[in-house]
Amino acid sequence: MNANEQDMAAEGNGRPVALVTGASAGIGAKFARQLARRGCDLVLVARRRERLEALADELHAAHDVAAGVIDADLTDEADRRRVCDHIHKTPNLQYLVNNAGFGTTSLFYEADADEPLGMVELHVRAPVQLTHAALPAMVERGRGFVVNVSSVAAFLQGASGVMYCATKAFLNSFTLGLAAELRGKGVKVQALCPGFTYSEFHDVAGIDRSIAGKFWWLDADYVVRTSLAALDGRTTVVIPSLRYKFMAGLLKVTPQWLLNHAGQKRHETTGDYPA
Ligand SMILES: NC(=O)c1ccc[n+]([C@@H]2O[C@H](COP(=O)([O-])OP(=O)(O)OC[C@H]3O[C@@H](n4cnc5c(N)ncnc54)[C@H](OP(=O)(O)O)[C@@H]3O)[C@@H](O)[C@H]2O)c1
Repeated sequence: MNANEQDMAAEGNGRPVALVTGASAGIGAKFARQLARRGCDLVLVARRRERLEALADELHAAHDVAAGVIDADLTDEADRRRVCDHIHKTPNLQYLVNNAGFGTTSLFYEADADEPLGMVELHVRAPVQLTHAALPAMVERGRGFVVNVSSVAAFLQGASGVMYCATKAFLNSFTLGLAAELRGKGVKVQALCPGFTYSEFHDVAGIDRSIAGKFWWLDADYVVRTSLAALDGRTTVVIPSLRYKFMAGLLKVTPQWLLNHAGQKRHETTGDYPA
């Protein structure tokens, strides 16, 4: 089913609609699956259309939900506008999941300028634009959920993760600000901060999964379940698993000089940074 067919399906049946970016893999695909199980119609967004179509067909067959796809490169302004136009035409959009993202191992000053700027486009501009497109109708209806997929890296800074940490910190701050604005309006926003999670993220970034022991790895299904369960509660910044909650708490009280030192040591030995 293409995006126009999805428009019609969504208008026709009155079911809640969920739009998930980065739905072709990893955490985004798990969001799509769990939201379909909750009876949502879906709009799946990413660059790899065939993957989106295969998932849309599977979820339509399994859960009898309407599932449309939009192939869009969210670092591209015209593509972002296409997705925003679709949001404007979807009056019963109940869930917006801003999940698309990527990591790198480059040093900021060595990377091609497209890389850090692409991260700003994808991790900052896309969530801001899509959320701005979605919120007015959600506020008017007095119901809606926006999940911004951030990271425990939002609580860190460090070599080779300069833009990743900075853009994820933006997402946390953006979401906390929105939560204050939206209090009492029936619309819930969440910054989801996973740690290392099994997905394609590390393959795409060229990061060896052996940088962290098994203890630190989370299952993407669990991350998404934790996020959706927390939408019924009061927490805005959601950190799946006790170990990462503890780590984030510790990071908040660790002096900056110690964080810098640890980050530098980590980069010297592995070239990597936390997810
Ligand atoms: N995995 C982890 O350890 C971890 C930890 C903390 C936070 N996160 C965050 O979780 C989110 C999802 O990552 P993941 O772990 O599921 O990684 P993943 O398996 O690599 O999935 C990334 C998704 O983002 C999409 N995407 C990437 N660039 C895009 C672009 N320019 N335009 C549109 N879509 C794009 C990809 O689809 P296409 O390639 O088809 O476009 C894919 O669907 C990211 O925001 C990441 O920062 C991940």
